[in-house]
Amino acid sequence: MKFSSKIDRCQLSPIRKFAPYARAAEKAGKKIYSLNIGNPDIATPSAYKEALRSYDAATVGYGPSEGLEVYLNAVMSYYDVKLGVKLEKGEVIATTGGSEALCIAANALLDEGDEIICPEPFYPNYSTFVTIPGGRICPMPTTPENGYRYAVREHVEACINEHTKAILVTNPGNPTGCVLTEEEMRIMLDVAKEHDLFLVCDEVYREFVYDGSPLRSALQYEGYDQNLIIVDSVSKRFSACGARVGVLISKNMEFMHHAMKWCQARLCPPTVDQIAAAALYTVDEHYFEMVREEYKRRRDTMVSRLQAIPGVQCKMPDGAFYLMATLPVDDADKFQMWLLTEFEGDATVMFASGEPFYATPGKGKNEVRLAYVINCDAINGAMDVLERALREYNNK
Ligand SMILES: Cc1ncc(COP(=O)(O)O)c(C=O)c1O
Repeated sequence: MKFSSKIDRCQLSPIRKFAPYARAAEKAGKKIYSLNIGNPDIATPSAYKEALRSYDAATVGYGPSEGLEVYLNAVMSYYDVKLGVKLEKGEVIATTGGSEALCIAANALLDEGDEIICPEPFYPNYSTFVTIPGGRICPMPTTPENGYRYAVREHVEACINEHTKAILVTNPGNPTGCVLTEEEMRIMLDVAKEHDLFLVCDEVYREFVYDGSPLRSALQYEGYDQNLIIVDSVSKRFSACGARVGVLISKNMEFMHHAMKWCQARLCPPTVDQIAAAALYTVDEHYFEMVREEYKRRRDTMVSRLQAIPGVQCKMPDGAFYLMATLPVDDADKFQMWLLTEFEGDATVMFASGEPFYATPGKGKNEVRLAYVINCDAINGAMDVLERALREYNNK
């Protein structure tokens, strides 16, 4: 029997592939500091659980393919009140997380051999979403020295060729924390429009910018409606990753019509979770301020601890809740395996090894992505472990 060449080209996620080894280490009594995955420990607002508790329909039935009205209204109201963006019915489709929104966009846009431009390092699941419909990521290299900035017209245009269908950006960025300035966002939108491309903006980290600047969305820029596709989600915004509720937004009705073919085939996103996700949109601004402050403390703690470890390099990220770090090892994957299977002590650390965050061969081998989603005490504990582990690993 044979498998598809497309699935053959995909890899397991660097964020999750070590999970079986971590479970075994945990069973053996080891504490695991999970810096590999953006699954925050911050409590989900109680509105979510209250909505779940008060759900009393006799039957948990299918909902509409575009999503439940209560959830769509909550999303549209958030865009209106917080961002000044008016969305109409039909311009918003509820999805099973931002992940499904990305998957739908990739399948609606890409044919065999098509390319999508993406700044690298990028969220590694993009590779899978793009590869399954037959596409490939055309990487736009960035460097830590340059703050991972990528919105330079000539650089973006140099990646465009006859196979290019779209540009995909994460703003604020995972894994780099790079946040586009207003001018940079305008450049990305202009390039997309001038070259007749879609700009897929993954804005699931919108709330997490640490310099006090107002919330931003590409949707706030007028004149780009036909080119723009937005991916959004409750996962990070409300620390509700397990809800699996997101949204796909576009004012391009032809795109939304094609997206709906997929949506009707997959029937609907989770019914009860959409109701609870709608309740999340009732939390007040104070919640976001508290959460932002907390992530900022975590970021500062992690960066200062990492920068004090000999041979480790990292930059201060501006947004989201990740950073890329270079470690004094030849292969981060091997180091991770050693940390989970051979490293002695009562605790160990998980990270996401860097190579799959790049499409350019050979890049990222000695890099890791770290998520500052655990509290400052835990981050300090993790950094103690990492520092000792690097010393022992390099003295083997
Ligand atoms: C950049 C980015 N986009 C999308 C997602 C998908 O999130 P979800 O499917 O939980 O909404 C993630 C998750 O980590 C992410 O980092």
